[in-house]
Amino acid sequence: MNPSHQFESRNYPVYIGPEAWDTLNSYFGSFNYSKVFVLVDENTRKLCLSLAVRKVPLLANVKVLSIKSGEQAKTVENCNKLWRMLMQGGADTRSVLINLGGGVISDMGGFVAATFKRGIAFVNIPTTLLAQVDASVGSKVGVDFDGIKNQIGLFADPQAVFILPEFLSTLPQRHLLSGYAEMMKHAIIGDSDFWSVILSQGFEPKDGWEDLIGQSVGIKQKVVKFDPFEQGLRKVLNFGHTIGHGVESYSLLHDINPMLHGEAVAIGMICEAFISCKLCGLPEEELIQIVEFINMHFALQPLSSEAAIEVLEIIKHDKKSENGKCRMTLLPHIGKAIINQECTQDLIIDSLHFYVNSFDLVGLTC
Ligand SMILES: NC(=O)c1ccc[n+]([C@@H]2O[C@H](COP(=O)([O-])OP(=O)(O)OC[C@H]3O[C@@H](n4cnc5c(N)ncnc54)[C@H](O)[C@@H]3O)[C@@H](O)[C@H]2O)c1
Ligand SMILES: [Zn+2]
Repeated sequence: MNPSHQFESRNYPVYIGPEAWDTLNSYFGSFNYSKVFVLVDENTRKLCLSLAVRKVPLLANVKVLSIKSGEQAKTVENCNKLWRMLMQGGADTRSVLINLGGGVISDMGGFVAATFKRGIAFVNIPTTLLAQVDASVGSKVGVDFDGIKNQIGLFADPQAVFILPEFLSTLPQRHLLSGYAEMMKHAIIGDSDFWSVILSQGFEPKDGWEDLIGQSVGIKQKVVKFDPFEQGLRKVLNFGHTIGHGVESYSLLHDINPMLHGEAVAIGMICEAFISCKLCGLPEEELIQIVEFINMHFALQPLSSEAAIEVLEIIKHDKKSENGKCRMTLLPHIGKAIINQECTQDLIIDSLHFYVNSFDLVGLTC
């Protein structure tokens, strides 16, 4: 396996690319698990499980745990069901749970495994781009509670992560783009050369996704290794997420067809790049580059002035703003991010207006 595509994370390896199938086969050959369980949702059961079974024959005879798809399924109630299914299936402390799905599956499956009998082994096989570059690596697991995302959870390491880009062939374009936003974020905060690669390749990489996923995971892993429990540096990964979360929550409350996480993060990155230009010296041409690229690839919707005010209220509530200011991660230039930067509420509103005006780039200035 190409060594640049294999990372030792906190305590677990991440394998990327088709060779990961062989590694997965030998992985199961070398461990003496008492029982193997696979967690899927209704889509990954239909679209991913048969490929996984074809490539890893051992999976043909394991117990499949299935839940409905989507964020609404990431609940404690579903964890209850899964813990019960594990018990009824005879899981013990030497069993393993394989999470075959997107971020909902790796978040919830990781949480279920990490808490069952004080923790059983779990392995992630992420099947969305978002899970491949973000959710399946980094060891944060958990579920939503009382309508608040990721309210219950913990840090827990998978035994290993196997990233097979071929799963992406069935992923709807909108979900592919949602993951692409996180990949762009990794480049913007951590590696200007990678950003240039993204700019030059666009959304349809001619050599497939493997290299881009490898570089993206590499940036996240470097940050996580340095600050596994988000005491400081790891907050660089929050670029685009302060305003992004506000926009996402607003959309979940008001839209019939709510934005996906990555779509909201794309808007958040435009806004926070604008604020970076105002407060941290992000060069205007880099701001324009980010805005232009996002608007070229994402079909984002404008926000009304009333919506902008409600988004600000959500951010204030979310971030417990001090003296009318919020802290966020900003950019002095593409490839570098700095955490805990204070930003006024007025500037957040200005940034949302900037976003709305960014659809017409002519004459746009920071
Ligand atoms: N733990 C972390 O560090 C972290 C980081 C980022 C996001 N997340 C979490 O990840 C979740 C979002 O992840 P997501 O976007 O993967 O969501 P998801 O798991 O809901 O997957 C999106 C949709 O794609 C479907 N799907 C999955 N794989 C497919 C495939 N190969 N072909 C066709 N359809 C497929 C799913 O069934 C679902 O309908 C959120 O809950 C978020 O909080 C966690
Ligand atoms: Zn995110």
